[in-house]
Amino acid sequence: MKNIYSNIFKVNNNNLSKAINWLKKRELVGVPTETVYGLAGNAYSSKAVKKIYILKKRPSKNPLIVHYYNLEQLKNDVVLNNNFLRLYKKFSPGPITFVLKKKKNSLLSNITTAKLKTVAVRFPENKTLRKILKSLNFPLAIPSANKSSHISPVSAEDVAQEFYNSVKIILNGGSCKIGLESTVVDLTSKPKILRPGFIGVATISKALNIKISINNNSRIIKAPGMLKRHYSPGIPMKLNQKKAKNNEAFIVFGKKYKKGKNIFNLSYKSNLDEAAKNLYKTLRLIKDKNYKMICVCSIPQAGIGLAINDRLNRAAK
Ligand code: TXA
Ligand code: MG
Repeated sequence: MKNIYSNIFKVNNNNLSKAINWLKKRELVGVPTETVYGLAGNAYSSKAVKKIYILKKRPSKNPLIVHYYNLEQLKNDVVLNNNFLRLYKKFSPGPITFVLKKKKNSLLSNITTAKLKTVAVRFPENKTLRKILKSLNFPLAIPSANKSSHISPVSAEDVAQEFYNSVKIILNGGSCKIGLESTVVDLTSKPKILRPGFIGVATISKALNIKISINNNSRIIKAPGMLKRHYSPGIPMKLNQKKAKNNEAFIVFGKKYKKGKNIFNLSYKSNLDEAAKNLYKTLRLIKDKNYKMICVCSIPQAGIGLAINDRLNRAAK
């Protein structure tokens, strides 16, 4: 595809250095990750992370995930515990975020953590992002690179569409491997899933050898960003539909659905991983086509299907 955006750069050594220099100057960079594209800034710098909140129009109460290269980099900022170390060894680097207690003498900006006593940390797997993290002496605060409550971006073009030229450089790492945000697991006390993702609750329960609950939102809100309408295409949505009118977009799953102009199949092969990867791309496409209503068939509530349904439920709020 022709690059019509002047701030999208291909990944090579020269452009990596450019991105690294901007980050050192407390500017923001659009980066690929294995989950969704992110908007990165120095997590130790209030000046840098303030820019993230402003650009995303993100409420200041909603903390950012801090991305690290390795444990060595992490140790100064959080209190490690056994559950964390087990999951870290098994799943990091990868699409999982851990909520841990923040150390008193941590260098993290209070704005990054929204003044909480906890921090969400992640070790991304994406090679480009790992090269960047390795070359910096500070971790990166990286929320998804979309305006607050919008659909998360899964390509460099999606990021450019969200922010135009307000981001100096967006590194083009192709389309995201997973396409849905990381699993968020709270490890500050009894482990809880705050946001389902590619690494499922059963897998995490097995690794820790305990039964883990998915946060049911009725308790104290641990993740301020989890409750509101989110991941939204800005179009009314009806879930668990069997059919749709011709002027409505119909998101379906599996080959029992006919093809048609208004039919958007997340996976003919009924493969949930493929459906996850296609979800945000499909929502963006439907929005571009100016549909006024989106119907969605029921999606199996298994594996990453839990994460797909979680995002659909929030998008439909
Ligand atoms: O896959 C991902 O995690 C992507 C990529 C770019 O790494 N990032 C991402 O960030 O999804 P964001 O900001 O869009 O979502 C972070 C979520 C928010 O819902 C936020 O409320 C929650 O993590 N969070 C951050 N710090 C937290 C904390 N201390 N306790 C509980 N939840 C927290
Ligand atoms: Mg987000």
